[in-house]
Amino acid sequence: MRDDRPRYGNSSERGMTNRGPEGAVRTARVLGTGSFMPERVLTNHDLEGMVDTSDEWIRERTGIRERRIADEKTASSDLAAGAARRAMADAGVDTSELDAIMVATVTPDSAFPCTACVLQAALGAPRTMAMDLSTACSGFVYGLEMARGLFAVGSYRKILLVGAECLSKIVDWTDRSTCVLLGDGAGAVVLGASEPERGVLSTVLGADGTQGKLLMLPAGGSRIPTTHETVDAKLHMLKMAGSELFKVAVRVLVKAAEDALAGCGMGIEDVDLMIPHQANSRIIDAAAKRLGIPEDKVFLNLERYGNTSAASIPIALDEACRQGRVHDGDIVLLDAFGGGLTWGASVIRW
Ligand code: ACO
Repeated sequence: MRDDRPRYGNSSERGMTNRGPEGAVRTARVLGTGSFMPERVLTNHDLEGMVDTSDEWIRERTGIRERRIADEKTASSDLAAGAARRAMADAGVDTSELDAIMVATVTPDSAFPCTACVLQAALGAPRTMAMDLSTACSGFVYGLEMARGLFAVGSYRKILLVGAECLSKIVDWTDRSTCVLLGDGAGAVVLGASEPERGVLSTVLGADGTQGKLLMLPAGGSRIPTTHETVDAKLHMLKMAGSELFKVAVRVLVKAAEDALAGCGMGIEDVDLMIPHQANSRIIDAAAKRLGIPEDKVFLNLERYGNTSAASIPIALDEACRQGRVHDGDIVLLDAFGGGLTWGASVIRW
């Protein structure tokens, strides 16, 4: 019979331990992946009719050709639920086995309840704890490390981690410098507690709050509560200092990747596949060159989806798995930067 009592995360009470048979602290391993994209495609040519831009400019400056856009009724939790169901099916894990649900997003359904709680209700997983992570495009890597911490504590065995965004709902569709970049979608993984030689080997997370103004949504919080004036002034829409962000992005992607690899005694030559945050192909190319990783080891899908913030890495990871780009024992490097500023890189042995 299913036990619907809430869990309180007390490992000894639940007969769990944070150590495997060899006595080593457990880590997080990906048991299954899934992604879910809205059907509507918005191409660069479509955008030519909306703002003063061109397909050529967007492709050359960003690498993006098209992006997916959610319809009016769809919120981030709806996309998250689609990705989560696919990840659970892939992992062969039922909702009753989950101990935690985490959603990385900067476009929650609402300020509260958190989107992870909305997702929990949609999936029917009453025994889990549920929480959101708001570290923009680095959210998935942050979530992975939080999950690793929970496994290491010993209280948790299976965690659903989702990156889900409806950025189209916070984009100013008259601002050509941002609206061409972003898209909607969700990616998910089911994580399981693992012996330390498989799964996440090393992670580096960082933040620099002094750079927060480079990417922000100014109003709607306690600093600038919502008024008619804030809506009229478009303060509920994403603002970005693109070229400043570009320079910082390359630097932090390189440093985070190098530090995460050093953390497990590896070098870039050990990496079989790098999955960077899909922000801009020029940022990714510049970071890959400085890291010294060949192009064919860098996974790219931003051409079809644009920048989906916290969803970008789990969507790319799912597609890489489906395309047979990830094999047992491979070393996979995840590398992200985002608003905050935040950044994070993880080295995973698949
Ligand atoms: N179409 C045509 N021209 C444009 C467009 C457009 N869509 N957007 C900007 N321009 C123009 C500018 O107005 C400018 O014109 P000017 O020289 O007459 O003033 C010119 O193009 C160059 O603009 P820059 O901003 O210098 O162009 P840049 O080469 O830096 O590319 C871009 C802009 C693509 C935004 C780039 O800076 C970038 O990718 N930055 C990082 C963005 C990013 O990664 N954001 C991630 C976070 S998103 C999130 O977390 C939710």
